[in-house]
Amino acid sequence: MTWVYIEDIAGYRDKDIELRGWLYNKRSSGKIRFLQLRDGTGLIQCTAFNPDKDNPLFKKIDSLTQESSLIVFGKVKEDPRAPGGFEIETSDIDIVQIADEYPITPKEHGTQFLMEHRHLWLRSRRQNAVLQIRVDVIRAIRDFFDGRGFRNMDTPFLTPSACEGTSTLFETEYFDQKAFLSQSGQLYNEATAAAFGKVYCFGPAFRAEKSKTRKHLIEFWMVEPEVAFAVLEDIIELGEDLIVFIMDRVLTRRRNELEILERDTAPLERIKKPFPRMTYEEILPKLNEKGSDIKWGGDFGAPEETMFGEIFHHPCCITHFPAEIKAFYMQPDEKRPDTVLGVDFFADEGYGELIGGGQRIHDLKLLEQRLKEHKLPREAYEWYIDLRKYGTFPHSGFGLGVERTLGWICGTKHIRETIPFPRLLYRIYP
Ligand code: 4AD
Ligand code: MG
Repeated sequence: MTWVYIEDIAGYRDKDIELRGWLYNKRSSGKIRFLQLRDGTGLIQCTAFNPDKDNPLFKKIDSLTQESSLIVFGKVKEDPRAPGGFEIETSDIDIVQIADEYPITPKEHGTQFLMEHRHLWLRSRRQNAVLQIRVDVIRAIRDFFDGRGFRNMDTPFLTPSACEGTSTLFETEYFDQKAFLSQSGQLYNEATAAAFGKVYCFGPAFRAEKSKTRKHLIEFWMVEPEVAFAVLEDIIELGEDLIVFIMDRVLTRRRNELEILERDTAPLERIKKPFPRMTYEEILPKLNEKGSDIKWGGDFGAPEETMFGEIFHHPCCITHFPAEIKAFYMQPDEKRPDTVLGVDFFADEGYGELIGGGQRIHDLKLLEQRLKEHKLPREAYEWYIDLRKYGTFPHSGFGLGVERTLGWICGTKHIRETIPFPRLLYRIYP
């Protein structure tokens, strides 16, 4: 018999097939047994009917516990009443293992308990839906950049220097030297952009952030495009296009999962470009009106991030931040040299910053001065300085956080649900 995955079942109408998976749930009523089988690609009901309750198939079925692994043999039947539109008329099953009593039951469990059992929690319906959408978001990101002629240039995770500031670096040993886990591939991207024009890197980023919020991970995934000769405006448009592309993909392909998550899709459906935009200076009084006491030079926190949604009812772009709150590499605005040509994209509904980026300093003297002001060791950045000596070029880029984007799309309460094994402050198990 042919081994088929549940997601492909529609192609096997009235055929005898075999499914391999785990018992999600079961029910019996008299001469009928109902098994809910999951195989990672979906959930399907397998029914077994027999007038003789002592028959061997029923004995096997009755011995199954939650999450037992098994192979089901049967015929695919179309049934409009069944979730997914199909069910299996079971002719036989092979038991691979009768599972021990499964710790995660349909009753409510506390977060601590679920996090301790993350390796099993992944199998539940909600977690499955979030992580399935993650697969589609990641594929959409790659399709977007590959489709626009970007070259994927992966950057190292072990690095000799900081990108986003020294306070959140993880330090490790690199033979007889010190090394740090990468916070961002950006600086290396700037070099590959000079070699390939437009590039992106896509990988994990590590931040030793002592913030215990529902939006911070210690290890997260980030896609970072970098475009030679692009200015701030170009990169804002690129970010808008990327978000619209991702949203379109998820809304087209993953309605089912969004429904499982009970996500109200109306706010997602209305996303379109151009996104509302304001400078840092323009947004301050609006935030103050809403009760924030943020002043010039202050960073946005969770309350401000929630206010963005109330102000714009759409993801928004904030630009032209005070230089002092941004990284050393940000290009100052000619007209307002105390501000930089940076942009942050914020989700609505309080989901926080999705994208951070902007235009980079391309002037040699200015970069040298900034490295000094930020007390960064010149030796470690010598190669980066070189890029400003040999055919320097205005250039811009950004980083989009996969988990932030996914948390927003799925409407998860906490970012821990958006990655299979979240690394959180003080949690590295499992
Ligand atoms: O704003 P960030 O720190 O920007 C950079 O790293 C730039 N070097 C990127 C670039 O220009 N190439 O981070 C970019 C995005 C944020 O907007 C957010 O979505 C995500 O990365 N991010 C986090 N996601 C989860 N947990 C954290 N601790 C995050 N820190 C940043
Ligand atoms: Mg940022």
